[in-house]
Amino acid sequence: MAILVTGGAGYIGSHTCVELLQAGEDIVLLDNFSNAKPEVIDRIRELGGRDFPLYAVDILHREGLEKVFAREEIEAVIHFAGLKAVGESVAIPLDYYQNNVAGTLNLCQVMARHGCKKMVFSSSATVYGTSTDVPFREDSPLSTTNPYGSTKRMVEDILRDLCASDGEWSVCLLRYFNPIGAHKSGLLGEDPNGIPNNLLPYIARVAAGKLKQLSVYGDDYDTPDGTGVRDYLHVVDLAIGHLKALDFTRSHKGAEAINLGTGRGYSVLEVVKAFEKASGVKVPYQMAPRRPGDIATCYADPTKAKKLLNWQAARELEEMCADTWNFTSRQG
Ligand code: WQD
Repeated sequence: MAILVTGGAGYIGSHTCVELLQAGEDIVLLDNFSNAKPEVIDRIRELGGRDFPLYAVDILHREGLEKVFAREEIEAVIHFAGLKAVGESVAIPLDYYQNNVAGTLNLCQVMARHGCKKMVFSSSATVYGTSTDVPFREDSPLSTTNPYGSTKRMVEDILRDLCASDGEWSVCLLRYFNPIGAHKSGLLGEDPNGIPNNLLPYIARVAAGKLKQLSVYGDDYDTPDGTGVRDYLHVVDLAIGHLKALDFTRSHKGAEAINLGTGRGYSVLEVVKAFEKASGVKVPYQMAPRRPGDIATCYADPTKAKKLLNWQAARELEEMCADTWNFTSRQG
């Protein structure tokens, strides 16, 4: 039986597919290619060392999903597919609720019809909202400040209700902190369209000479150097976390929210310094006003992931920066 990976051609999905293939799992990859490049598929095949069925299907397309489940024997689903830009979600909220919430409902209904009741879901530390009570634990209060975050929280609630209604379901709600880095090979990484919103892709493009300088959003936060602190984790560590979560769904029932982070935070200026060291390239920056919606400090309490999944991040910030640079400097 195979693992269906929705959004498998995306940044985190592609790295997870490679780890699954290398671990001997059969996969079926589904993506609508709205925010992924088709050449990623060949790279997954090359790095994973094996071929797999590919479906260019949208999770909103019920008949397309039905066809996948009719043709393939799906044991479990790792569900990445969704829209993920915070700012965009404020501008086009209905698209976010439709894709992320209605799309997941569709997927779960098709799964249930075919007796497939194991899921690993991409949630986000954004569900902890603007709380200042760091580190965030899975039982910390939840709140959201934008439609993107609300979709993640709603889907968490839906999946919990689903598990409560039917004891055969098993779901891991993985709350990612800040995934960065790229595959060692330089063949997979994060390459957003347009001007990047997130820190690492922005820094990498400044280093590559494609953007003039970084704006550091706020230098007056209550942090050691005044700039925002985040829990950055290597995308390959994150991918491995999905394999552990998949195993967990094979031996447990019910819904479980689990943080995936390193448990330590770095400031924007510390990241700039680490990137300069790893790349050997200077990253010019200027101080700028705070970005609306940002909080001072966000990092995980990763104890639960260690306890339930036996997962722990292994890669340090320097390696995350070196791998980001290796990938970005190869892009045209
Ligand atoms: C990190 C730090 C910024 C850009 C967001 C989403 C979250 C999750 C990950 C998906 C902050 C600062 C950034 C820049 C800067 N997404 N910064 N200049 O905001 O922690 O999380 O992405 O699930 O939901 O909210 O990540 O990379 O945007 O910012 O100074 O040009 O870098 O202020 O302190 P964030 P980020």
